[in-house]
Amino acid sequence: MKSLNVKCSRPYDVFIGKNLIDSIGDVVSENRRKCRALVLTDETVRDLYYARALRSLKSCGVEAVPCVLLPGEASKSFESYNKVIGVLTEQEFSRQDVVVSLGGGVVGDVAGFAASTYMRGIGLFQVPTTLLAMVDASVGGKNGINSEKGKNLIGTIYQPESVLCDTELLKTLPDEIFRDGLAEVIKCGVIRDARLFAALENEDPRLRNEDVIYRCVEIKRNIVQEDETDKNIRHLLNFGHTYGHAVEKLSGYTIRHGHAVMIGMILMARAARNMKLCREDCVPRLKNIARKYGLPVSTSFRADELTAAVMADKKRGTELLELVMPLTIGYAEIVPIRLDRLDMLTAAALNEQSDETQD
Ligand code: GLY
Repeated sequence: MKSLNVKCSRPYDVFIGKNLIDSIGDVVSENRRKCRALVLTDETVRDLYYARALRSLKSCGVEAVPCVLLPGEASKSFESYNKVIGVLTEQEFSRQDVVVSLGGGVVGDVAGFAASTYMRGIGLFQVPTTLLAMVDASVGGKNGINSEKGKNLIGTIYQPESVLCDTELLKTLPDEIFRDGLAEVIKCGVIRDARLFAALENEDPRLRNEDVIYRCVEIKRNIVQEDETDKNIRHLLNFGHTYGHAVEKLSGYTIRHGHAVMIGMILMARAARNMKLCREDCVPRLKNIARKYGLPVSTSFRADELTAAVMADKKRGTELLELVMPLTIGYAEIVPIRLDRLDMLTAAALNEQSDETQD
């Protein structure tokens, strides 16, 4: 087992190893005399792992109360949030009690938002069950739900007390969902670790997923420690997400997050190359790695559609748009551009996409 400590407003450990789900009871009950845990999960994960989590909690004297969502992005909603708050209030949870998130990014986001707002904040433990949630969503405290007007528009930054990444849980993950998480791993390589990227080009990350998850969490930990409240350097973690969120939204969320982020990373690398900021090899290496892992390399959405979706998703009140651009594989920077340049940058990146496809 490996572990890292995240030193932020509330320091906590991230544990990475096999069968850690069987330790959730010990981790929750440590430093607590008696408590109850609302275990938030979805139907798929409930059928696979709820019984094990329950056994561990029970053996440590923690009473578990289940709350089950439908799988999928549509559950990042007011309805899900209300459902969780409804259970917490009906069961008269107190500030001594906790929320355990047992699931992927969607469950983790709803769990975090509910835990951070119920009675102004109760304990939160993350047991991520997808690669994406292990390497990104469960660490750093961001949570939220979607509104009609945009993704993650409502949420807080609220750190968990511990994160348990059980690598054995990845064995039941459908291939498509595993690949979705690989896009976030690729992102970590592009923004901060050329060696990680090269390893992904040459090896199969499944063979040493503990090391890969550790390195991604370490990269994220270092960034979050510098900018927990997401004011500047943390924006680097959004590489590929500007166009990625647009693609997700335009597809009505039928294109998965990681798949959309992969498209977004390639488009943004093209935009960076067109601004003469990025080395020539970035785009071909990104496309090759996407193909290697069965991730998409292009989108059929038009430039005006993408630009409009980016503008709708943009943080309010600024005249500049901050784009995360790779300068080379292993190093990215935040580049502010004037909003009126976005349309041209997007159109140029999409034009090249069709030229490259014809090649
Ligand atoms: N997922 C990006 C962040 O936590 O900042």
